[in-house]
Amino acid sequence: MGKASLHVFFLLFLILSSFCQSNDQLSQANSLSPGDMLISEGRVFALGFFSPSNSNKSLYLGIWYHNIPERTVVWVANRDSPISNHSSVKLTITNSSEMVLFDSEGRAVWMTANTTTAGGADRAIAVLLDSGNFVLRLLNGTVVWQSTDHLTDTILPNTRVLLSYKAEVVGRLVAWKGPDDPSSGDFSFSIDPSSNLQIFIWNGSLPYKRLDVVNEVSVSGGTYQSNNTSVMSQYLYYRGDELYYTYTVSDGSPYTRILLDNRGNLSLLS
Ligand SMILES: *[C@@H]1O[C@H](CO)[C@@H](O)[C@H](O)[C@H]1NC(C)=O
Ligand SMILES: *[C@@H]1O[C@H](CO)[C@@H](O)[C@H](O)[C@H]1NC(C)=O
Ligand SMILES: *[C@@H]1O[C@H](CO)[C@@H](O)[C@H](O)[C@H]1NC(C)=O
Ligand SMILES: *[C@@H]1O[C@H](CO)[C@@H](O)[C@H](O)[C@H]1NC(C)=O
Ligand SMILES: *[C@@H]1O[C@H](CO)[C@@H](O)[C@H](O)[C@H]1NC(C)=O
Ligand SMILES: *[C@@H]1O[C@H](CO)[C@@H](O)[C@H](O)[C@H]1NC(C)=O
Ligand SMILES: *[C@@H]1O[C@H](CO)[C@@H](O)[C@H](O)[C@H]1NC(C)=O
Ligand SMILES: *[C@@H]1O[C@H](CO)[C@@H](O)[C@H](O)[C@H]1NC(C)=O
Ligand SMILES: *[C@@H]1O[C@H](CO)[C@@H](O)[C@H](O)[C@H]1NC(C)=O
Repeated sequence: MGKASLHVFFLLFLILSSFCQSNDQLSQANSLSPGDMLISEGRVFALGFFSPSNSNKSLYLGIWYHNIPERTVVWVANRDSPISNHSSVKLTITNSSEMVLFDSEGRAVWMTANTTTAGGADRAIAVLLDSGNFVLRLLNGTVVWQSTDHLTDTILPNTRVLLSYKAEVVGRLVAWKGPDDPSSGDFSFSIDPSSNLQIFIWNGSLPYKRLDVVNEVSVSGGTYQSNNTSVMSQYLYYRGDELYYTYTVSDGSPYTRILLDNRGNLSLLS
C-alpha cells in the first residue's frame, strides 16, 4: 500500500470509528457493552458503564456529562444491583420493546418496567438526548419509557418531575449511599404524603428538613437570579390530580443540576 492510500485508509478508519463512537442510539440490532458509550447529538451527555472508584470495581450503567473531565453522574440504572463480573455484560432492547441489562451469566439485573407492547415485536430504539434524558421509543414515535421518570439523585433542567398522583408519592430523589456508592442511601426528597403541599428531605422515614411550604394554588413559580447572566425559575403545578415540579435555566447558562447528596444536602450546582 502506498503512503497516500495508507493515509486515506487511516482517515477512513478514523471517520468510521468516530462515527461508531458518537452514536446516540441503541437499536434492537446492536447492544451496549462495557467500554461502549452513547453520546447525545450535541455531545452534552454520555451513557455507558462505569465503576465509581478504583477500590470498588462494581459496574453500573449511568449517564454523565460528556464534557466534564471529572465524571459527574446524573443517573444510574442498576444502582441497587451492581455487577461484579464485567465479561459479557450488555444492555439490549428485546423483541418485546423492553430494555434489559444482562450480567455475565445472562441474568437480567435491570430492565425498563411495563414497556411491553401488546402484540410483541414492535421495533424500538433508545436515544440519549442532549437534555440528559434517555428515551425508549417505538419506531412510530411513542415513548414507552424515559429515564427522567425514574430519577436517581439529580434533577436536570426542563425535567418534568411527577411528584404525586392523587396525593400518593410518585417521584422522589434518593441520594447515593456514599460519595463512591450509588446504591440507595438514607436521604430522599419527595412530597409529604400526609400533606400534599409540603416537600421534605427525609432521613429514612423521618422528616429531616422541610422545604418551602406551598400554598394551595394551582400554579406557583419562583425566580432566582444567581448572577446577571443566569436565571433559574422553578414551577410547582397541578395538572388534574398530578402535581409536578420543574425548573428552567436561561439560555447560555452553564450546566446546571439539582443534587441530593449522601449527607442530605439539596443543592443547585453549576
Ligand atoms: C461495591 O459496592 C457495592 C455497593 O455498595 C457493594 O454491593 C459491593 O459489594 C462492593 N464491591 C466490592 C468489591 O467492594
Ligand atoms: C427477535 O426477532 C428476530 C427477527 O424477527 C428473530 O430472529 C429473533 O430470534 C428474535 N429473538 C428472540 C429472543 O425472540
Ligand atoms: C465471568 O463471566 C464469564 C462469562 O460468563 C465466566 O467465563 C467467568 O468465569 C466469570 N468470572 C468469574 C470470576 O466469575
Ligand atoms: C406494571 O404494571 C403492573 C400491572 O399493571 C402494575 O401492578 C405495576 O405497578 C406496574 N409497575 C410499574 C413500575 O409501573
Ligand atoms: C405506536 O404503536 C403502539 C403499539 O403498536 C400503539 O399503541 C401506539 O398507539 C402507536 N402510536 C402512534 C402515535 O401511532
Ligand atoms: C439519620 O437517621 C439515622 C438513624 O435514625 C441517624 O443515626 C442519623 O444521625 C440521621 N442523620 C442525620 C444527618 O440526621
Ligand atoms: C456568574 O457569571 C460568571 C460569568 O459572567 C461566571 O463565571 C460565574 O461562575 C457565575 N456565577 C454563578 C454563581 O453562577
Ligand atoms: C449585576 O450587574 C450590576 C451592574 O452591572 C451590578 O451592580 C450587580 O452587582 C451585578 N449583580 C450580580 C449578582 O453580579
Ligand atoms: C451538608 O450536610 C452536612 C451534614 O448534615 C453538614 O455538616 C454540612 O454543613 C452540609 N453542607 C452544606 C454545603 O450544606
